[in-house]
Amino acid sequence: MSYISRYCIKVIVGMFAVVIMTNLSGAEDNVANGAKIYGETCVACHGENGKGAFPGIPDFTSNTGRLSKSHQILLDHIENGFESPNSDIAMPELGGNEDLTEQDVKDVLAYILKTFHNGK
Ligand code: HEC
Repeated sequence: MSYISRYCIKVIVGMFAVVIMTNLSGAEDNVANGAKIYGETCVACHGENGKGAFPGIPDFTSNTGRLSKSHQILLDHIENGFESPNSDIAMPELGGNEDLTEQDVKDVLAYILKTFHNGK
C-alpha cells in the first residue's frame, strides 16, 4: 500500500472517531436538558425519586410499570396528555408546560428512562 493511501485511511478513521464522539456528547447534552426539564416541569407530580409525589401518580421505577410501554407511546402521552380509565388525575399535555419543544419531550423521556428505568 502506498504512503498516500495509508495516510488517507488514517484521515478517514480519524473523521469517524470525531463523528462518533460528537454523537456521544450530543446524547449526554440531551439527558442533561431532560434533567433540567424534569426538575422544572415534572418533579412536582412525579417526585425527585420518580415514585410519585402524591397518591394517584404512577411509580416510574416499577419494572412492570408505565415506563415499560413503547417509547413511541410514552412520547405521545407526554406530548398530548393521558388519562387511564378510572384515574383520579390525568397526566397534563406537555406536563402543563406549553413551552416544551418536541426535542425537549424526547430529552425528558431519555432522562426518565435513564434515571428511573435502567435506560430501557
Ligand atoms: C400535574 C401533575 C403532573 C405533571 C406536572 C406531570 N405529570 Fe406525568 N403523569 C401524571 C399522572 C397523574 C399520570 C398518570 C395518568 C393516568 O394514568 O391517568 C402521569 C403519567 C405519566 C407518564 C406515563 C404515561 C402512560 O402512558 O402511562 C409519563 C411517561 C409521564 N407522566 C411523564 C411526565 C413528564 C415527562 C412530565 C414533565 C414534562 C410530567 N409527566 C408531568 C401527572 C403529572
